Amino acid sequence: MGILDKHKVLETNATLLLIFSLLVVTIGGIVQLAPLFYLENTIEDVEGMRPYTPLEMAGREVYIREGCYVCHSQMIRPMRDEVERYGHYSLAAESKYDHPFQWGSKRTGPDLARVGGRYSDEWHVDHMRNPQAVVPESIMPKYGFLERKKIDGKYIGELMATNALVGVPYTEDMIANAKADFAAQADPDSDYDGLLERYGDKVNVRNFDGQAGISEADALIAYLQMLGTLVDFSTFNPDMHR
Ligand code: HEC
Repeated sequence: MGILDKHKVLETNATLLLIFSLLVVTIGGIVQLAPLFYLENTIEDVEGMRPYTPLEMAGREVYIREGCYVCHSQMIRPMRDEVERYGHYSLAAESKYDHPFQWGSKRTGPDLARVGGRYSDEWHVDHMRNPQAVVPESIMPKYGFLERKKIDGKYIGELMATNALVGVPYTEDMIANAKADFAAQADPDSDYDGLLERYGDKVNVRNFDGQAGISEADALIAYLQMLGTLVDFSTFNPDMHR
């Protein structure tokens, strides 16, 4: 009786009801969110994760600029049909260095979270030039112009420094050598020891587009070819990370 009478005060006064609703939602929100900032396993650490190399980072910029995410997701959900088609479901840790993430919300084309290593570099060059020559029913636009657009990684160090600001573990050494590493990854005849030392010896060092000079296609293919390849799922055990 008594408490219900008091509730009537709230129900008949719009301003009071608004204030108290806000209070309740605030408390509920804090209870739900605050622990996540302190729990150690909110973002699990998974072996193999590393920041993008400068060339991959440049490729990611092209990917974002061209709006590839409008048609492609990078998020394999833990459902059987997806796992059988694309591979192991995406882990939170796999996009922890992504600013912004590329999960996407629409799949006009296939998910690309694990496209790395699925096709050869030549396949990508042909597909980018003319998707319909590779997959006749494809509605993907042509991106042949990317291989004619040469880039030199002029601002890649700055971009990496900006990513470091928001928590990507780029070291001073990585940032200082950004331009050299950028060029080294696209040239298998170069001295790329420093690149492997900084990013690990699994980094792909190739002339991705098969042409002289470094083009946006080199960068984009370097990016596509590493997607989803960092974590070794033959040894990964999700239970260990609970
Ligand atoms: C208008 C939608 C659209 C856009 C934009 C688009 N794609 Fe696609 N993409 C598709 C479709 C549809 C397919 C499937 C048919 C094919 O392979 O061409 C596809 C296939 C692919 C594949 C092969 C995937 C696989 O597993 O077989 C890759 C790689 C790819 N796209 C990369 C890109 C990149 C990189 C960009 C941006 C530069 C891009 N796409 C932009 C629609 C799109």
